[in-house]
Amino acid sequence: MLALLAWWREAGVSDALDEVPLDWTAEPGRAPGAAFDWPEKSTSAPEGARVTTGTQAPAAERAPHIRGPAAPAPPAGRDPQPTRRAPTQVASARNAARSAETLVRLQELLQSFDGCPLKVTAKSLCFYRGSETARVAVIGEAPGREEDLAGKPFVGRAGQLLDRMLAAIGLAESDVHITNIVYWRPPGNRTPTPEEAQACRPFLERQLELVAPEFILTLGGPAAKAILDVNDGILKLRGRWREVRIGSHSVRVMPTLHPAYLLRQPEAKRQAWRDLLQLKAALDGQTGSPSP
Ligand code: URA
Repeated sequence: MLALLAWWREAGVSDALDEVPLDWTAEPGRAPGAAFDWPEKSTSAPEGARVTTGTQAPAAERAPHIRGPAAPAPPAGRDPQPTRRAPTQVASARNAARSAETLVRLQELLQSFDGCPLKVTAKSLCFYRGSETARVAVIGEAPGREEDLAGKPFVGRAGQLLDRMLAAIGLAESDVHITNIVYWRPPGNRTPTPEEAQACRPFLERQLELVAPEFILTLGGPAAKAILDVNDGILKLRGRWREVRIGSHSVRVMPTLHPAYLLRQPEAKRQAWRDLLQLKAALDGQTGSPSP
């Protein structure tokens, strides 16, 4: 039995969602998340509120037009999306996010937002930890199991390593704003899909506008790709400053390796350390870029 549980866990089955198993493959149209309304081009943020990079067109304009399968009629009996909202409610939640005046209000809006299917399987919303007005925003990929239980980003082993990495350049939790590109744990800790990141994006953009950091440290490939809107791998992206616009100001972005990767590949810590030293130099007002 233990071996079977370990095998399921390995395959991504990490949490029991119901008392009895249900074969979703027999009812594909009803699978959790099948009927979510994905963000469309027309619901993108107003110009001033977008995160854009360099001279490229804004991310939302280049995003493919994504739409999930048509919503099936609610079946009799159990509904796998008990809190699902009408598409107009989802769109208005996104629009409200763009005008939220505080992080508290943004969190309230996220709590009632049903436009990201990850919410169905997650236990908690993981919004942020750290300061509301930090000079540095740290952006990871997605909450994991520990984070889902605690309702905060980066509280597990990777988070503890992150805290030690930041402390090594003199940054405490109160000096940084730590969040992720999605606010709910993907089942089995898989990588969030671009659609899931896109669903959370208006909230992340507004969050960054409100925090107004001078620097962003992205952790791992998915976060770097989502923030910089590029497709390169993290080993190519890390260690080089980029610039993105958030609202009316520009922010310098330093992509680095994810602490979970560093736990598996400790020899890569020296690369992450070089990236962190560049962040420290920038915080101290020094210019110049040591080689990656
Ligand atoms: N990994 C992430 O990317 N984010 C977390 O919050 C925890 C682990």
